Amino acid sequence: MDFKKIISQMTLEEKVSHLMQVGARFFKKDAGSLNTGPLEELKISPENIKAAGTTLSCANSEGMIAIQKTHLEEDRNKLPMLFMQDVIHGYRTIFPIPLGLGCSFDSELVRECAKMSAKEAAVAGVNVTFSPMVDLVRDARWGRVMESTGEDPYLNSELARAFVQGYQGDDLKGDYNIAACVKHFAAYGAPEAGRDYNTVDMTERTLREYYLPGYHAAIEAGCKMVMPAFNTINSVPCTGNKWLLDDVLRKEWGFDGVVISDYDAWFEMVAHGFCSGEKDAAEKAFNAGCEIEMMSPCGVHYLAELIAEGKVSEEKLDLAVERVLRLKDELGMFENPYKVADPVNEEKVALTAEHRAIARKAAEESSVLLKNNGVLPLKKDLKKLAVIGPFSDTGNVIGNWSCMGRDEEATTFLAGLRAYLPNTEVAYAKGCGHAIFENDESGLDEAVELAKNSDAVVLCIGEFKFYSGEGNSRADLSVPAIQMELARRVIKANPNTAVILITGRPLAIVELNNIAPAILNMWQPGTEAGTAAARLLFGDANPCGKLSMTFPYAVGQVPIYYNHYNTGRPKPNDEGEHYYCSRYVDCPNAPLYAFGYGLSYTTFEYSDFKLSSDTLTADSKITASVKVKNTGAVAGKETVQFYIRDLVGSCVRPVMELKGFEKIELAAGEEKTVEFTIDEPMLRFWNAEIEFKSEAGDFEAMVGTSSDKVTKLTFKLV
Ligand code: BGC
Repeated sequence: MDFKKIISQMTLEEKVSHLMQVGARFFKKDAGSLNTGPLEELKISPENIKAAGTTLSCANSEGMIAIQKTHLEEDRNKLPMLFMQDVIHGYRTIFPIPLGLGCSFDSELVRECAKMSAKEAAVAGVNVTFSPMVDLVRDARWGRVMESTGEDPYLNSELARAFVQGYQGDDLKGDYNIAACVKHFAAYGAPEAGRDYNTVDMTERTLREYYLPGYHAAIEAGCKMVMPAFNTINSVPCTGNKWLLDDVLRKEWGFDGVVISDYDAWFEMVAHGFCSGEKDAAEKAFNAGCEIEMMSPCGVHYLAELIAEGKVSEEKLDLAVERVLRLKDELGMFENPYKVADPVNEEKVALTAEHRAIARKAAEESSVLLKNNGVLPLKKDLKKLAVIGPFSDTGNVIGNWSCMGRDEEATTFLAGLRAYLPNTEVAYAKGCGHAIFENDESGLDEAVELAKNSDAVVLCIGEFKFYSGEGNSRADLSVPAIQMELARRVIKANPNTAVILITGRPLAIVELNNIAPAILNMWQPGTEAGTAAARLLFGDANPCGKLSMTFPYAVGQVPIYYNHYNTGRPKPNDEGEHYYCSRYVDCPNAPLYAFGYGLSYTTFEYSDFKLSSDTLTADSKITASVKVKNTGAVAGKETVQFYIRDLVGSCVRPVMELKGFEKIELAAGEEKTVEFTIDEPMLRFWNAEIEFKSEAGDFEAMVGTSSDKVTKLTFKLV
């Protein structure tokens, strides 16, 4: 396709409009809001609309087809529009929130979920998803931790690749493939005090070592688009950050796809105090390398003027338009501007048995068994089971950012358990509401009464879906007070109680951990919540999720993460009283549950950890091997984790870093040997001179079931 020729036929105004992105409601007159409304809001003209290159959040195939049809009639250049949307953890079939998917430690499963999301989205007329979100997260106060796969750069990178491959497939022209947009570049997950959109300040070394690998991995996997983050990084908004968008992204990483801003982010550089107004914002954002402007009008208002004044180059504008056209071509939009958008198929393809089965599997593999004193698995011959709590009988457990998902299409815990236990009386009491400041105790007695008169209780408590996600930071990480009161009373009334914890973030649950006989953290598990829960609680599925984000002991510990530095005065790991060391006087240093932690209904024994050599050279490799045996009575899956520590470096090195993992399935009594390969590139890190190099010296190799339960061996790099 001759993009240069197309561009040469476009007017300056048309080219500028091609890079403007406004919502679908700006195009579709019957979509609820009239054109005049939004057009007036942003002061963009009908000419801008006619020549627009892309739109967001159209929501269904009928809308897409109608908008595309009108657009092709009205656009002088007849260039198809691209339809973009947030497809974050499923389209209609909702998979667990990404933080849950992270706990599956299963790239193949994540790829499969992304592939099915893409299929449902494609028939609904979506061409690009604003996913994967790969922001590394260490602070559970930030509401958007739910969108991330967790705190580890290696795991995040593995899963970033899986998301991209799942969405994009091998060929974007494929019917059910959509383009991916990795976000939010960069380090949006590290806002001060965990408050959304807040300042991010860190050394370039830290940025490169922990925060950038996820984005880079997505790009290496072929991700077509990048979205800069809302935040400033070292005092410059990412949206107008030339170093980030040009030096790192384009020049260093060779990214040649499209850069799209986040929602209104060009204009928000004014509030940041980085730009004096729309015109300044347009100049700074565009010159930094941000190409499509989402939902603010700075570019359409001023780019042409800036070009006339010689402050922005028209060649740069042409290149940006060319990149958008190339993406359209790669997607096959020129051959068929509607692709597979189809109202009939949209319903047929969504929520199929196949998609639901994967959603159920994903919910099972993402769930983390945090505690079990033997209550779980529950016995199937119960006469009466009580299902109690504000999340028992609701589909709102699908999680935030389930944009097209519908609560009513999810299987609730109550429905799932009733279907699973046809011969058991499954009774329900809500007990209380879910709200943080809820204080109506009138339902507690009924719940306690029911608990007393039942053989077992499933208590569904935790965090409502809109307490996490964008703009939803929390200063307190407790389970809301009224729900804790419900838990105290119900557990006292019936010690045969298992808690299903619903949450979009790690919570501080020391008291719950002390009083609950069992806690199964299901995060926000998606459409198949109830079916997955029943299978997990009764042992048809054996919990195998491992935490991809640390659960703090107290909110005061955050940010808390396993791959931290040691300090000069680390607190000794014993029971003694220690002064003048790095400690809290009122709380342990250790988290409640560490990264990589998660129980099973069986037990695994690690033995015979060996290194094939104790010396590594630049061209050699060491094989680390370990035997893992299922020593319990039932089959189970174990994620074997492999960590490295560089004992001495020119910059201090983390106490441990995940370098590999393997999820294996073992029948009762079965043993397998798991191997990891250590080579010199694995030991490289960003040094103070910002070089990515290894340093000769002593290392520890560690293997284990969790970051706080490993065995160590040492080796040397020479
Ligand atoms: C979010 C992005 C999202 C965009 C479009 C923004 O508010 O930060 O993650 O992709 O909206 O919906």
